[in-house]
Amino acid sequence: MNVLVINGPNLNLLGIREPDLYGKQDYAALVALVEETCAQEGLGVEVYQSNHEGDIVDKIQAALGKFDGIVINPAAYTHTSVAILDALKAVALPAVEVHISDVSKREEFRQVSYARLACIKTYMGLGLEGYRQAILYLKDYLTK
Ligand code: DQA
Repeated sequence: MNVLVINGPNLNLLGIREPDLYGKQDYAALVALVEETCAQEGLGVEVYQSNHEGDIVDKIQAALGKFDGIVINPAAYTHTSVAILDALKAVALPAVEVHISDVSKREEFRQVSYARLACIKTYMGLGLEGYRQAILYLKDYLTK
């Protein structure tokens, strides 16, 4: 069982970027947490990050036939991208949405999530732990 973890713009700057919101752990720590979790759960994983909307769409499309599910933090594209929503719908792989911060308690423009419309579950406000929860949820979903 293979999982694709996708991170959108500016998540490569974790640790530097607004640490009060996103924590002090860097992107390498996120990748390590995801890889460790998947190894423990017997899952194959690829962790992908891009600052470019079209590249994320391409990655979702290429997941078809290679991955069984997707964990996605579309970052700012969460609130703007119909293209990412459509790509998730097109491949129809089970997808779980993650946000490090609790977007429900932030600005009005963050209250919209297009990607969520194609996701089976959302974790927000749990820090990097949200990725672990998302992977466990996806494994459970794929196993049932
Ligand atoms: C985020 C929340 C988004 O609103 C923001 O644009 C991000 C990160 C999060 O993980 O909390 O870049 O997705």
